Amino acid sequence: MPSAHYQALAVEPQASDDNDNDEEELVVHWAANLQPSSSSHNHARYHKQLATSSGWEDRLPTPGRGMAPRLSRRRYWMLLVVPLFIVCYFVFSSPLLLGQAGGDGDDDDANNFEPHNGIDGTTAHALNEPLLICSDSSDDHRLYIQDKPRIAYAQLPIIYFVTPTYPRREQIPELTRLAYTLLHVPRLHWLVANDQEKCDTFLDTLLSGFGIPFTHMASPMPSKFRKSKPAPRGVANRRAALLWLQQHNLTNGVLYFGDDDNTYDLRLFSEIRQTQRVSMFPVGLIADYAVSGPVVRDGKVVAFLDSWVAGRRWPVDMAGFAVNLAYMSQYPNVNMPYKPGYEEDLFLRSIGLRIDQIEPRGNNCTDILVWHTQTKSKKSPVVNVESKYLDGRSNLGPLFRSLKLMGVASASDTAGHAAVISKNGKGRSHSYFLS
Ligand SMILES: *[C@@H]1O[C@H](CO)[C@@H](O)[C@H](O)[C@H]1NC(C)=O
Repeated sequence: MPSAHYQALAVEPQASDDNDNDEEELVVHWAANLQPSSSSHNHARYHKQLATSSGWEDRLPTPGRGMAPRLSRRRYWMLLVVPLFIVCYFVFSSPLLLGQAGGDGDDDDANNFEPHNGIDGTTAHALNEPLLICSDSSDDHRLYIQDKPRIAYAQLPIIYFVTPTYPRREQIPELTRLAYTLLHVPRLHWLVANDQEKCDTFLDTLLSGFGIPFTHMASPMPSKFRKSKPAPRGVANRRAALLWLQQHNLTNGVLYFGDDDNTYDLRLFSEIRQTQRVSMFPVGLIADYAVSGPVVRDGKVVAFLDSWVAGRRWPVDMAGFAVNLAYMSQYPNVNMPYKPGYEEDLFLRSIGLRIDQIEPRGNNCTDILVWHTQTKSKKSPVVNVESKYLDGRSNLGPLFRSLKLMGVASASDTAGHAAVISKNGKGRSHSYFLS
């Protein structure tokens, strides 16, 4: 639903139940049409909207007053939906349900933010940060890429590779290592967004020296978030990149969020380049299972393996998906709210993703082409998933065999972290998805 206005994501009272039809979930739109133009304006509108919504309660029918037959259709609609919304709101924001896997109730839409880790409702602004471009170049100075002259790749869609980065001891080494990976990738524009007020001239020089097309921008985290624990790291950076893509009206190519400390297999780039809408693939070294990614059956994504569901409909890592820009441009309300842990989920919700649209990549999600490498050492985890399910019926069999061979993680029938598989923010038994 393309619209010039910033429209709220849906408030969904509940993740869909036993039926697998995501589209039939009850969806209540209650806030809409916030202008994306200015932050203070936006804020004022937001509060006005809140005021209106709380005013709805006053207009609820009271016992005895009854419903006049002359009520307009609009009124009927309100009488039906408003009490439902209020009930769902209280049910699903109750502390009992919050934090329970799949019980969050999805009330965290992009406009209507519940306080979360001390972050208030203003985290939900449309993309409107000032954009400070430090340096950029669309020139590609490479003569050869891999084993071919650059010109041989001229017809490929461009990959917009967005790297949030922040000043720290490892910043330059990490960016250097990443640059030498990206040097092997044709038709790539590197968007480097630094979490700093001012432009770093050392970075300007470093980036222009690689000879690949790039844009270097300064995108500091708003100061009000700096003190929050956890802080929404990398969000201002990615929002700046999204804004840059919007401002350049780019409707051709593929967006990928690639952090500066990850490890990228070059095959990843060929896999994501042909993304039609949203492609997904496993990411190695994520959380308790040392892997996070889609569960694939018969070439289709049916669920997700990730140790932290927390009500996320899309429990995936930032490096675990790519988005086609023609597809994304149909959603001018694209957003990434300042909500730690929910950035991927809310971003993917803001572009109206449906599970049947996801394109599994990396050999039906059996190959790991990107790793969440960190410079600390951790033990290889044991993941508790019954071996009877690790056969040819889904990607999990080959995936765990290869994780074992690489010494990254192993599966066990009896011990280890219980493998949670979820859909629509709801964890279920393995047999539900795998038998
Ligand atoms: C993925 O699985 C489907 C269905 O089994 C199959 O048709 C397709 O060729 C597979 N794709 C790859 C890349 O292996």
